[in-house]
Amino acid sequence: MNETREFDILSPGFHADPFPTLDQMRAEGSVIHMKLPIIGRTWLAVTHAACTAMLKDHDSFARDPGNAGSKTQARILRVLPRTLSLLALNMLGHDDPEHRRQRGLVDQTFQRRTIEAMKPTIAAIADRLLDRMEDGTEINLMTEFCRDLPLSVICAMLGLPERDHDRFKNWLGRLTDTADVWAIIRAIPGLIRVVRHLRRVSRPGGGALPDGLIAALRDVETDGQKLSEDELVSMIFLLFGAGQETTTHLISGGLLALLSHDEQRRKLQADPSLMPTCVEECLRHVSPVQMTKPRFAIRDMVWQGEQFRRGDMFAGMLAAANCDPSKFEDPHRFDIARHPNPHLSFGTGVHFCLGFQLARAEAAIAFERIFTRFPDLRLSVDARQIKWRKRLGIRALVQLPILLR
Ligand code: HEM
Repeated sequence: MNETREFDILSPGFHADPFPTLDQMRAEGSVIHMKLPIIGRTWLAVTHAACTAMLKDHDSFARDPGNAGSKTQARILRVLPRTLSLLALNMLGHDDPEHRRQRGLVDQTFQRRTIEAMKPTIAAIADRLLDRMEDGTEINLMTEFCRDLPLSVICAMLGLPERDHDRFKNWLGRLTDTADVWAIIRAIPGLIRVVRHLRRVSRPGGGALPDGLIAALRDVETDGQKLSEDELVSMIFLLFGAGQETTTHLISGGLLALLSHDEQRRKLQADPSLMPTCVEECLRHVSPVQMTKPRFAIRDMVWQGEQFRRGDMFAGMLAAANCDPSKFEDPHRFDIARHPNPHLSFGTGVHFCLGFQLARAEAAIAFERIFTRFPDLRLSVDARQIKWRKRLGIRALVQLPILLR
């Protein structure tokens, strides 16, 4: 049986250059055992083939540990205040058929607001943020742009009024280190305020704009099925959370990659038709979500040549899959024209990211608007001095210091 491995997948040093560690992980086998902070003992699928197989095999791997014989999560949820426990009601924590029911309801509403129709709003928000920088020379793009764009876009999409933005930023601002129990505990009051606020606005007459997703999700009905109030709040929180941080780190990490690979950035500026492949390569090379949520073995089984027990916990190491040389030629190279690019940054299987088109559109518009407005944009410090956060599974910059001209 595979022994427990110790790889640093948490420190700022790992995030600054994850490829050597990810390569070493893959060299150990397709699935490796690690003890992760907070999460505990986990089997990580580290090759492209193993990640794909695990995420698509819904008969062997469950998202809800209850479907793999574990009662721990259910017990914890019972003692948590309802404001927090309802967050586990969202579809990302469920398996089919419950997942399919919720995903069907949200897919329907999401598709109605086509991403095409959102593009002018995204561009207008990006321009407004860039206007604020017009007189500056040196700025931190992380706080001035990369955080605000996805927040404003998801608020516009959900139908949350502009005046709520700063409140959300304050409430959620403490959640910077998800690998530290105390940091999570310190973030709980802010989280509770967000959930309470979302519950208030999601009620009829509560303030959500009538043409937004919140109002649409409240009313959507398929085969007589509707979302309960708790499910609605939980779904909005999922969209709000999933749609924001991830995209922030794609935009900031992608810009850092472009600004530290001058020939690639010049290639994009000379030929804007490369934007779609550029965004895909940023998704692969940055891997903003490095790891999936946990999965649980539904039964005792032999998988990838190893024996596993019912209830064993797994996760897909997407960042390792995204630099697997059996799938990508010269995987460490940042190549904005790479095609095909079968990265797993949005996951795969039934939980494949709902917001993938929105995230792609936001990144493409962000890059296009920034380089049009400030064509001589460059890092104001050496790329090696840029700091990363200590995070598990998320690749997050602390700052992105930029000279605009
Ligand atoms: C660069 C940006 C993004 C990345 C890298 C990303 C990545 C992911 C990944 C890896 C998953 C699957 C997790 C798992 O299987 O454990 C996922 C699921 C999900 N994402 Fe995204 N995401 C991004 C943006 C968005 C946006 C903009 C939204 C919505 C507005 C969104 C909404 C969701 C939802 C609702 C799920 C759960 C789907 C389900 O359970 O069926 N994501 N995302």
